[in-house]
Amino acid sequence: MRILGIETSCDETGAAIVEDGKKILSNVVASSQSLHIKSGGIIPEVAAREQIKCMLPVIEEALESCHHDSNHSSVDALAVTVGPGLIGSLLVGVETARTLAYLWGKPIIPINHLTAHLYANWLGTRRATNKNTKNHELPEFPAVGLIVSGGHTDLVLMRDHGKIKWLGGTRDDAAGEAFDKIARLLGLPYPGGPAIAAQAAKAEESRIKNQELRIRLPRPMINEDTFDFSFSGLKTAVLREINHLKAIKQFSNLAICKLVYEVQEAITDVLVVKTIRAAQKYKVGAILLGGGVIANQRLREKFMIHNLHFIIHLPPPVLCTDNAAVVASFAYFNYHPQPWSKIEALPDLHF
Ligand code: KG4
Ligand code: ZN
Repeated sequence: MRILGIETSCDETGAAIVEDGKKILSNVVASSQSLHIKSGGIIPEVAAREQIKCMLPVIEEALESCHHDSNHSSVDALAVTVGPGLIGSLLVGVETARTLAYLWGKPIIPINHLTAHLYANWLGTRRATNKNTKNHELPEFPAVGLIVSGGHTDLVLMRDHGKIKWLGGTRDDAAGEAFDKIARLLGLPYPGGPAIAAQAAKAEESRIKNQELRIRLPRPMINEDTFDFSFSGLKTAVLREINHLKAIKQFSNLAICKLVYEVQEAITDVLVVKTIRAAQKYKVGAILLGGGVIANQRLREKFMIHNLHFIIHLPPPVLCTDNAAVVASFAYFNYHPQPWSKIEALPDLHF
């Protein structure tokens, strides 16, 4: 079965065709990121206007790179992200998908963006095990899933496709949002995650991490017996540190490098420790990772170092950030078409 997925929950416009939930036939993503760099963050109105312009060309390109023309006859169904996300952006994808479903007479499946991120693990996962030598190609249930993006930080227990229990999430800023906001405080460009990761790698190369590190940031909620997170205090701690360094006239490039390194260490420590603790508590065999922050190399490394018992599924970075292939894959494994007239944008959708 071939499903055409459509994704417009944030600033990306994506269309992809996936066969039987596992094989990507095409995956096109247009991003308006360059426009947001100037403003230091996403302006929803600007993102939605760009999406209106590129939605149809992106779908055409997805069809063309799959069939060599823009024929849709081999597409069996459509799937579209209905939420959570920015209302203006969601509406672009939802209205386009509804119209195409009606025109083409095809089934349409509404998709939750959060769960969709985990389906990157059915598309191109690189399995990583330390002790466990079982040879599973695709994820097996039960599994614990960590979704970390610009808007969300959530831990879930997946007993099967469609059987998801939410274990906890952030009480304030998402992990990606913390990267983005802290980067802004330090004068680094948007999006902050990749910018902080690049600076932190420099710190690593120059062995700054081995020098005496006077900068030590908190690991919020790391020892609390819940699966909730909180990252806004980290941002405040960084601001305090910046003010202190400025006051003692030591706010240098070296200090920024050290701070950035420590920010990445703090965020990744919390994510890894709490995810592994959830996997232990619920006695699952596998951990599934998804969302833009999973593109972070240090986070990926730490999951490998700290994991002793679980099969860790690490999607390639290109499938971690927003894309429509995960939407189509999710739809195949959770095939519940709805009448096109009932499909609507749900910006506050949860699990
Ligand atoms: O999943 P995603 O593409 O969009 C949302 O649904 O939000 O995630 C975007 C987030 C941004 O906050 C960005 O800073 C973060 O993912 N991100 C990273 C990295 N690449 C993207 N964070 C840390 N390290 C990275 N390499
Ligand atoms: Zn996302």
